[in-house]
Amino acid sequence: MATTATPATPYLFHRHALVTRITHWINALAIVFLIGTGLNIFNAHPALYWGQFGADDDDARRWLEIGSADAPDGSAYGFLRIGSLTVHTTGVLGLSKGSNGQPSAIGYPGWATFPGVRDLATARNWHFFFAWVLILNGIAYYAYGLATGHLRRDLLPRLKELRPSNIVHDIVSHARLKFPKGEESKRYHILQKLAYGATVFVAIPAMIFTGLGMSPGINAAWPWLLELFGGRSSARSIHWIAANFIMVFILVHLLMVILAGPYNEIRSMITGKFRVDPEKA
Ligand code: HEM
Repeated sequence: MATTATPATPYLFHRHALVTRITHWINALAIVFLIGTGLNIFNAHPALYWGQFGADDDDARRWLEIGSADAPDGSAYGFLRIGSLTVHTTGVLGLSKGSNGQPSAIGYPGWATFPGVRDLATARNWHFFFAWVLILNGIAYYAYGLATGHLRRDLLPRLKELRPSNIVHDIVSHARLKFPKGEESKRYHILQKLAYGATVFVAIPAMIFTGLGMSPGINAAWPWLLELFGGRSSARSIHWIAANFIMVFILVHLLMVILAGPYNEIRSMITGKFRVDPEKA
């Protein structure tokens, strides 16, 4: 992303390299399938634990649970429990309408999972396939980003950008839906860098390495990987937390793309060309 002087009329600027664009869309496809299949796999045992083990009897280690129970009046309800906090989630988590239209006791609802019905074997097959797509695609993205300086130059926040005044200024601009124009629109601002950086440098690597650690073949070859995360159940918990971070990131990312001008934004991620508007249009 090099910068030049901004003329007074809108013009097209080459914003994203071909490798960034191709790997971005392969990544988006892989993540959509990984989330859908991951939620289906999670439904096989919708609870999370810390440590090495975790099963139905391990109440003390269970820090999160999605389930259904009966109210005193006999009616069933769905719930999400995190530690001592329980939230009723009927219709979304724990108890939702099944494909036959009847209430069904299931962690995540069928519309959020792939396949849409409980099918652990199919979900695992697709999950592992797209996990390798994500890993190989990720290697291409990170190798390219390191070799060309894209990761350091465009995604890594500079020290002066991390000044509280700069971050507050960016939050206020976002709240007012004021997006940068001219020269400033050619680079990522601090909130964008923090969101992309947390995803690219933390959440996706955490998801990949906890996933690899839980995979039986890799676990046999590199048992230290699971130990690094504090055991199999801790790795599964971190895997789930990273996946949830990514789900929240995607919602905010899509909202920002829509607010910033979806045509110009998405075109720039497909063709590379981004329209730069003059500062005072
Ligand atoms: C259909 C879904 C998606 C759309 C429409 C979309 C759109 C875009 C667009 C337009 C940009 C460029 C933003 C700019 O130039 O200011 C971008 C960048 C980016 N997106 Fe997405 N995105 C999608 C899904 C995802 C997913 C699932 C992830 C990862 C979890 C992701 C991660 C990123 C990252 C890290 C960048 C910065 C890439 C770089 O410069 O290296 N996106 N996206």
